[in-house]
Amino acid sequence: MTICRVLRRKRGFPAPLTSRIPQTVSLTEATVMNEAAAKPAKPHLPDAQTVTSVTHWTDRLFSFRVTRPKSLRFRSGEFVMIGLMGDNGKPLLRAYSIASPAWDDELEFYSIKVPDGPLTSKLQHIQVGDEIILRPKPVGTLVHDALLPGKRIWFLSTGTGFAPFASLLREPETYEKYESVIMMHTCREVSELEYGRKLVESLHDDPLIGEMVAGKLKYYPTTTREPSPLMGRITDNLLSGKVFADLGLPPMNVEDDRAMVCGSLAFNHDVKVVLEKFGLHEGANSEPLEYVVEKAFVGDGI
Ligand SMILES: Cc1cc2nc3c(=O)[nH]c(=O)nc-3n(C[C@H](O)[C@H](O)[C@H](O)COP(=O)(O)OP(=O)(O)OC[C@H]3O[C@@H](n4cnc5c(N)ncnc54)[C@H](O)[C@@H]3O)c2cc1C
Ligand SMILES: NC(=O)c1ccc[n+]([C@@H]2O[C@H](COP(=O)([O-])OP(=O)(O)OC[C@H]3O[C@@H](n4cnc5c(N)ncnc54)[C@H](OP(=O)(O)O)[C@@H]3O)[C@@H](O)[C@H]2O)c1
Repeated sequence: MTICRVLRRKRGFPAPLTSRIPQTVSLTEATVMNEAAAKPAKPHLPDAQTVTSVTHWTDRLFSFRVTRPKSLRFRSGEFVMIGLMGDNGKPLLRAYSIASPAWDDELEFYSIKVPDGPLTSKLQHIQVGDEIILRPKPVGTLVHDALLPGKRIWFLSTGTGFAPFASLLREPETYEKYESVIMMHTCREVSELEYGRKLVESLHDDPLIGEMVAGKLKYYPTTTREPSPLMGRITDNLLSGKVFADLGLPPMNVEDDRAMVCGSLAFNHDVKVVLEKFGLHEGANSEPLEYVVEKAFVGDGI
């Protein structure tokens, strides 16, 4: 199976033009269409993209998809600035990891709902057909180019830090570059793992990308406050060796293991200490090494 076949299928070619032309249009339908066309057009936001789907996972988490600007090129794992028009008439923008892979026709985002958050107190109410602002300047360090070649890639995340890995897990290059792909995701409660769990499940079930994933992807979801089959902080499970024993892998070493990290500032700091203990060094786009880090958010509390 070639990557082209995967991408062709994922992009989904549009139906032939003839099948998209309604065969009969009733007078009532035509009248409704004419009335709609006569309405004054809604003013467009600058860099506007249209929401195509919204899924609420918990009272703190939701994901949504929007149209993709034709000119937008990005590398799986990067982030962009998105937002809404603020009450003062100025764009209210925040950094967001693109959760969809680079080949997808649309863009997906996975978001927190901060009750009093300037952006997400409003963004959580978006509906299909609404517009958001998207500044088409992708950047970020969680990209394959920022790592030296290795045998195993570890994706280490907490909370919405899963978002860049939702992109990289759907990126064929991930499975071409590595023999094993280990996805560790930790949240306080089981329900907060659901978006990631469903996404990983869908990879295995996909008849095409499933072939690339089979035998390579090892998913290790844990909770820290609510009981679940696998428990504990990522740092503790790495340091104790529990994750290596559970997955039948050797302890991390500088020759074979590569890592990408995305969580709170405290999480990122503590994981870096652990990775350095295993002998890995932090890399960057300009100097690829053995691990890279991105903030999932700034601040220490909601
Ligand atoms: C590089 C980068 C990538 C990011 N990617 C994402 C993403 O993919 N999804 C996402 O939901 N957010 C992401 N964020 C955070 C995002 O930019 C906003 O902070 C978030 O959308 C909340 O915006 P707000 O205006 O409602 O509140 P803000 O004023 O921005 O934040 C208020 C407080 O809420 C808390 N908070 C903010 N974001 C989160 C979060 N994601 N998880 C837990 N607590 C949080 C912090 O304590 C913060 O001080 C990213 C941030 C950075 C720097
Ligand atoms: N999640 C919720 O239900 C909830 C509800 C209301 C408000 N909030 C607030 O929202 C903010 C973000 O909450 P969040 O749950 O999304 O993110 P978080 O506090 O960063 O926790 C997410 C996961 O990461 C773990 N973790 C946190 N710091 C770590 C570190 N230094 N090293 C290793 N693992 C670490 C946590 O384990 P531990 O459980 O061991 O800390 C938890 O399993 C917090 O300030 C919180 O007070 C959260």
